[in-house]
Amino acid sequence: MLPRSLNELYENIRDFWVIEEKNRVLGCCALHISWDNLAEIKSLAVSKIKQGKGLGASLVSSCMDEAKQMGAKRIFVLTYRPDFFRKLGFKRIKQSELPHKIWAECINCPKFPNCQEVALLKIL
Ligand SMILES: CC(C)(COP(=O)(O)OP(=O)(O)OC[C@H]1O[C@@H](n2cnc3c(N)ncnc32)[C@H](O)[C@@H]1OP(=O)(O)O)[C@@H](O)C(=O)NCCC(=O)NCCS
Repeated sequence: MLPRSLNELYENIRDFWVIEEKNRVLGCCALHISWDNLAEIKSLAVSKIKQGKGLGASLVSSCMDEAKQMGAKRIFVLTYRPDFFRKLGFKRIKQSELPHKIWAECINCPKFPNCQEVALLKIL
């Protein structure tokens, strides 16, 4: 996953689903509406000690349900963990199939322009 600045987290805090236990965050995932009918999954992470227990899949599922409720027809992710998303029904696509506007924030990323993230999409 890519680093996010504190400023970016505050600005997008309402996008986040969070799993919490005893005031500790165990996992999070953000749903961002990108374009007409198109949503994006961002900032998915599960605490190391809680990985492999279904929390990641459950966070993505909450984002997909919310995206459907909001009328999105497609949901995509840019990720270094394509196999995880394949298991959830996402299919690899070319990055060029996504709208240009989603690349705007890449300019602020330390990995720009040598990012190896893979784009995957699921029809909702
Ligand atoms: C990737 C990540 C979110 C997965 O969360 P998790 O809670 O461990 O995953 P789950 O337990 O929900 O796994 C669901 C399924 O995906 C599989 N899976 C989990 N991580 C996987 C991976 N990296 N590659 C392939 N499959 C994976 C599980 O085996 C499970 O399969 P099953 O249903 O057949 O048993 C978690 O490992 C993580 O936070 N990694 C570090 C941050 C990161 O890479 N985030 C992704 C950014 S887009």
